Order: sequence, then structure tokens, then C-alpha cells
Amino acid sequence: MKYLAASVLLQVGLTLAFSLPNIARLSRREVVEDKGDHILICRQEPLELGIVLDSSSSLRNRDFKTAIKFLQEFLSQYEISSDPNGVRVSIISYGKGIYPEIGFNLTTYDTKDEVIEAIGRIPHKAGLRTDTGRAIQYMHEAQLANGVVRPGVTKVSIVITDGNSQEWKLTKEAAEEARKDNIVMFAIGVGTDIRNSELLNIAGDQSRVTKVDNYNQLSSIKESLAHQTCFVQEKTTTTPVPMDEPCGVSDPADIFFVFSPANLGSDGTLWATSFIGLTVDTEDLNQGFRYGVLSGSCPDDAGFNLDAYSTVEGIKNRLESYERNKVQELVKTLADDGFTTARGARANSRKIAVIIAAGKKTSELQDEVAALVAQNIQVFVADPADKGLTLEGATILSGRSSKLQAEAFVSALCPKRS
Ligand SMILES: *[C@@H]1O[C@H](CO)[C@@H](O)[C@H](O)[C@H]1NC(C)=O
Repeated sequence: MKYLAASVLLQVGLTLAFSLPNIARLSRREVVEDKGDHILICRQEPLELGIVLDSSSSLRNRDFKTAIKFLQEFLSQYEISSDPNGVRVSIISYGKGIYPEIGFNLTTYDTKDEVIEAIGRIPHKAGLRTDTGRAIQYMHEAQLANGVVRPGVTKVSIVITDGNSQEWKLTKEAAEEARKDNIVMFAIGVGTDIRNSELLNIAGDQSRVTKVDNYNQLSSIKESLAHQTCFVQEKTTTTPVPMDEPCGVSDPADIFFVFSPANLGSDGTLWATSFIGLTVDTEDLNQGFRYGVLSGSCPDDAGFNLDAYSTVEGIKNRLESYERNKVQELVKTLADDGFTTARGARANSRKIAVIIAAGKKTSELQDEVAALVAQNIQVFVADPADKGLTLEGATILSGRSSKLQAEAFVSALCPKRS
């Protein structure tokens, strides 16, 4: 089953060849990219990035090169430049102590090409210690220091390590200090030696911890990490919410849309993408929201070859898979492991599932809806047929068009403040 976790805005799996008319006109600063099998929409905010890279002897030289290549590919997803709205990058590598002479600062390079080239020139020092804490301190106090960063711009640090630091308390304290200064800390642990407690000490929250088994697996996280780090600034003040502030700023939400093109048919699928497009296009939902889509497309749907089955029984069993309720399976997937950090969900946001379904099979979803509700996930159902469905625990959106149902959904999410 193809599972698409998306993030800052929306990553839509195009399992059918249709266009997304509403998504083309997403507003402001948003980047829409056709990635072939999906469309990626990401809001590009200015960002100060501080990379902290392990260069100790526990890494083999080959692994260090893999980490460098990962960083280059990862960074190439950002709009790096010295423009006022650009993403700026600094890096510090460490092992036995820190190696500022082979790193660079936010203002050292002006273009993405220069940054990516400079990363490629960083040598492996194979230091005999793992001084992660000192490196975090340097990132915080020298590279992302208050006088250096642009005021009001989100600060993000990504720490890549495969070993536990000798001075774990210093690591913990240095990371805490950095977080107190509003640097959002991400920890990437590579290999089996690194303890989760060390990563958690760095990141401060499990939602910003990523673990991979080896350096080769790093490339698999580069997109989700880029999405996680291109979010908009979280609200930090306690002043009352001004009337015109998008509601996601004070009340962020992670929203998964679930629909099955196989169940909806092509008209229903167009309705669904129109509904999603209109929802994400809403000003009020511009900040603080993350969107994901779960739309299925099991390999089974592709059919089978002339020589795949030698018995009638085999063919009949296979044919039964076409009759299964696909949307039910998708909702079950969401209930089983949908809102995990690996799928981009955040610890402190509302969890919302929007099931787009039509027809009599919708009533079969009751158990799955109950499982979602039991996990404190708010469930909405959008129905292209607007037939007045009932599903206990879910809010049914009504309205004769995708536009009206999208409006109903948005006003349920963001009640008008008085
Ligand atoms: C980066 O900034 C620090 C602190 O200002 C400075 O000591 C260091 O030399 C700079 N490094 C580079 C490569 O410019």
C-alpha cells in the first residue's frame, strides 16, 4: 500500500492521471513542484540552519562521505541564498573538540551552489572523542548567535551523530540552552550504538528525533526532514490572538485526508482533490497546519499477467481483492499507525482525520472511526454525494459542492472569533 505522509503543506499521490486545478492557485510564497509521482507543495520560509556534524573516529571514512552526500542532497531542497527571504546555512563538525576551521558560517557563502560545494570539501577528521555538547554550544553561541541571525527568522539546528558523547550532561545542557534561545533542535542518530536518551537530550522532543540503521539510509529521510524544517514559525508570545491571525498559529493541527480513488471513481476523486485544494487554499489555514493524504493504490490494483495464476481458484481469490472496501483499509491504516512522528505528526497539535467517502459502504467504517476517536483524533467525513450519512463519533460535512463542504470544514476547524 502506498502511504503518503506529507507535511508542511500537501503531498498528493497522483494515482490517476488527473489535474489538481485548485492547487495551482495556492497563495503566497508557496512552492509547487511536480515530482512525477506526486506534487509537492512546500511553504518556503526564511530560515537560519545550523548543521552539527559528527566527524569522530567511530565513523568509517565511507560513512562520512555518505553523510556529506546526504547533506548536499538535503540542502539542495532549500532556497539557499543571502536574500532577505533566503535560507542561510552554517556547519560545524566535531570529534575530539570542534573543528571551526573546516566549517562555515551563515554569511560565509551567498549561493546554494557555493554552500553545497563547500560541504563537499569538509574532510573527515576521525577525532578520538565525541564532543557533541561543545559543537552544539558553538552552533548556538557563535554560528546562530543573537547578533548574527536575522531577527524573527526561524532557527533550526540538525545534529547528525552515530556515537554517544562522553560528556552527555554537557550535551544535554548545551542543547537545552540552544532550545531556550528558540533554536529548534533536530537529532539524527545513525547506527545501533547511539542511545535514544542522547538523541532526546539533544532534540528535547521525540518528534524531532530520527534514527536510521546506517548511513546509507539517510537519503530516505531527506524529504521528510526538509518538510519538517520548513515549517512556519510557532507562536511564542502569550499576547491575545489578534483577529486577523490565522487560527493555526495558536491552535496547530495535523490533518490527514483519506480517500480511495477506487471507491470514489474518477468524478468522486476530482471532487476529493477539489475539496482538499479548497481547504488548503484557505487563508486561515495558512500557518500551523500540516496536511497528509492517504489515498491507497495497492499494487494489487494493477492487475496481473497471463501466467500469474494456474488455477481458477487463484484468479477468483485475486478478484475478491477488488471488492474489498479500500477506504476502510485506509482508515484502518490511519488508526493503526497514521499519526506517528515518522509520518510528520507533531507532539502538540490537534490530530484530525478527514475521510472522503460516498455510498453505502461508508457505514462499514464505524469500527475504524471509533478506533480513531478513541485516540483523540477528530474525525470528519466529507461526502461527495451529500446523502446525509451517519457515523457515530464523526462530524459529517454537508453541502452540495466541494466548496461548501470545504467551507463547513474550515469553519469547524477555525470558529470565527468574536
Ligand atoms: C564564524 O564565526 C565565528 C564567530 O564569529 C568566527 O570565530 C569564525 O572564524 C567564523 N568562521 C568562518 C569560516 O568565517
